[in-house]
Amino acid sequence: MPDLTQVIILGASGDLTARKLVPGLHAAVCEGLMPGRIQLVGVARRPWDDATFRDQLTQKAPQVKGCGYDQWEAFLNQTHYVPTNLETLEDYRGLRARLEALAGAPCNRVFYLAVKPELFLPSVQHLKEVGLLEQGAARSSRVVVEKPFGTDVSSAMALNSALLGLIGEDQLYRIDHYLGKETVQNLLVFRFRNAFFEPLWNQKYIELVQITVAENLGMENGRGGYYDTAGATKDILQNHVLQLLALVAMEPPAALTPRAIRDEKVKVLQSLRPMTDVESDKHIVRAQYNGYLAEPGVNPGSTTESFIACRTYIDNWRWGGVPFLLRTGKHLPSRFTAITVQFRMPPHTLFGSPQECHLRPNKLTIRIQPNEGIDLDFDLKEPGQGLNIRPAKLGMEYSQYFNKPSPEAYQRLLQDVVIGDQSLFIRSDEVEQSWRWADSLLMAMRRTPMHSHAIGTWGPPAANNLFGECEGRWVNAV
Ligand code: BG6
Repeated sequence: MPDLTQVIILGASGDLTARKLVPGLHAAVCEGLMPGRIQLVGVARRPWDDATFRDQLTQKAPQVKGCGYDQWEAFLNQTHYVPTNLETLEDYRGLRARLEALAGAPCNRVFYLAVKPELFLPSVQHLKEVGLLEQGAARSSRVVVEKPFGTDVSSAMALNSALLGLIGEDQLYRIDHYLGKETVQNLLVFRFRNAFFEPLWNQKYIELVQITVAENLGMENGRGGYYDTAGATKDILQNHVLQLLALVAMEPPAALTPRAIRDEKVKVLQSLRPMTDVESDKHIVRAQYNGYLAEPGVNPGSTTESFIACRTYIDNWRWGGVPFLLRTGKHLPSRFTAITVQFRMPPHTLFGSPQECHLRPNKLTIRIQPNEGIDLDFDLKEPGQGLNIRPAKLGMEYSQYFNKPSPEAYQRLLQDVVIGDQSLFIRSDEVEQSWRWADSLLMAMRRTPMHSHAIGTWGPPAANNLFGECEGRWVNAV
């Protein structure tokens, strides 16, 4: 394989490039984690030249810790810009000529589609037509697609089939940036490298699992227009939350290969009970925060939810009957993502009666972000006369335990694309299966009332009714 990889960002004038992709790429280069040389090529319609693009990045890209001025300058020296109308085939011919001139010899290429979804397919078609997607033993050519990948199962299937008619699945990297987060990757190690959780990780010992992706922001930075076409279910639940669920619930993979890992995740998604098969009222709560309809870009009559909570089940041997409570929303009191696994009470309760709801079950909470860490809640006897039982906690904080900050999600993901490891990317059947379930939720959701909630509260009170008697409640602060 050639030593040089060109990372070509289509849609390079957007926010994602400066805020996430460039810092991620720069960190990987400056820490020496890329397998060879990297050349960054920004591609967009704006009539910029290399100098303007470099200036833009210097102004907007956050500094990478541990990488100094010299390293940034060296990175910028390998950064170029090609003004291109992404809808015009002729421009792609020009792009090809410029890329070849910049490389000077055959090289590997990564095309990152940071463009609006309508341009995913035409861009790949044009790249293919001008011969930029050819690969072989001598060089690789890969395409990274941002979300949203489709808007429902049929559009995702159509997009898959059209893209896979042009390039191979091994060339296509569907991104879900949650999979690049350190704590999310750790789920596999935590579950399958430690002997003591696995025997308990099933319906016999686990009463309930809850997953929350809470955000305190709303429609900042002009997001209302896009968000109103998506809503909480399509924006976060269908992708980030289902990925977390798949990693928590999957069987141990046969090997640590992309195929084996993704096979197991797909099986979990296939086993999710369609939400059209459950009583909507008792299993789904949707809401808008007060003021959502007045947000710029949002249709004043919109029925798009900014909050969704639901209770679902994985119908397989490991999880039969265990409720999975999922929740996400904008303008909640704080930003946190966590998974809480709630264990059953001991089968015979010596201390207190099993009917006493206030008895706390053991809980394992995996704090994905911020304050990354893991907590185990259990009960202890208070020292002294009598038998007073008190809650106790064993906790692990990433920041205290490891002496270095976790890399940004995009750094790890970009490294993996350049290396050619698809483990942390979504396979075609995975994306289709996630949509199939999300579609069932969206359909069932229409039969439920639209609640509202004040900004800065944990959604409508009705979300608490998704828990059965004695099942506890949402974990709101981690
Ligand atoms: C994106 C969603 O995928 O994830 C955004 O489109 C959301 O609406 C973001 O804010 C959250 O990502 P993170 O990494 O900040 O949790």
